Amino acid sequence: MNVGVLLAAGKGERMGSPVPKQFLEIGGKMLFEYPLKAFLESDAIDAVLVVTLKGWLGTVKEKVRSPKVVDVVEGGKTRSESVRRALEYLEKMRPEYVVLHDAARPFLRKETLERVLSEAKRTGAATAALKSVDTMVWKTESSLRYVPRDGMYRIQTPQAFSFELLKRAHAEGGDWNDDTEPVQALGVEVTLVEGDPFCFKVTYEEDLLLVEMLAKEWR
Ligand code: CTP
Ligand code: MG
Repeated sequence: MNVGVLLAAGKGERMGSPVPKQFLEIGGKMLFEYPLKAFLESDAIDAVLVVTLKGWLGTVKEKVRSPKVVDVVEGGKTRSESVRRALEYLEKMRPEYVVLHDAARPFLRKETLERVLSEAKRTGAATAALKSVDTMVWKTESSLRYVPRDGMYRIQTPQAFSFELLKRAHAEGGDWNDDTEPVQALGVEVTLVEGDPFCFKVTYEEDLLLVEMLAKEWR
């Protein structure tokens, strides 16, 4: 069994909107409903778990009227804690693979999640990532240091792991950037799969113009 986990328990502090960004209504839907649709439409995903903020459990439950969504559960203070809440819930289901996705990345194509999942089935751990096309610099106090672009990637979600591996990666707790980081820390290589520029993370208020434009065309 392969389970999709939609992470929607963040507060969206950098966005600074009165409503956490995943609940903004754009194009007739709340933003978290866009990636949820990709999970629901993919035959590779057997069940979906949504992790969200306590005060939003009711709203999310109302919106997700699909038997494929097994539950909507409360997240934690950090993204990593929200992932661990999902892992605790999934303990009773014992899925083979878990595909994690940020609800803050609305424009997920099911092809991307299926690509990442099938690579994880081959290697145990995979993530969507984008090659850096721009010149990369590390800005220090005194200068700009030019970082070779070759080998530089921007890590996105979806990310997929065998359930047992992801559990081991989170066994000691920790606050990680994403889920590839604790997996790498175990000494397990994570495969990079071609990501999708459309699957960007909505972070700042100025990202909303792009969201509005894309929402008009999105399937
Ligand atoms: N997330 C989560 N639980 C948390 C924090 C984040 O489920 N305690 C989720 C967010 O909902 C989002 C994803 O992790 O889908 C990526 O996080 P980020 O873009 O940092 O979202 P926020 O934490 O909500 O935003 P900010 O950091 O600006 O507060
Ligand atoms: Mg955050």
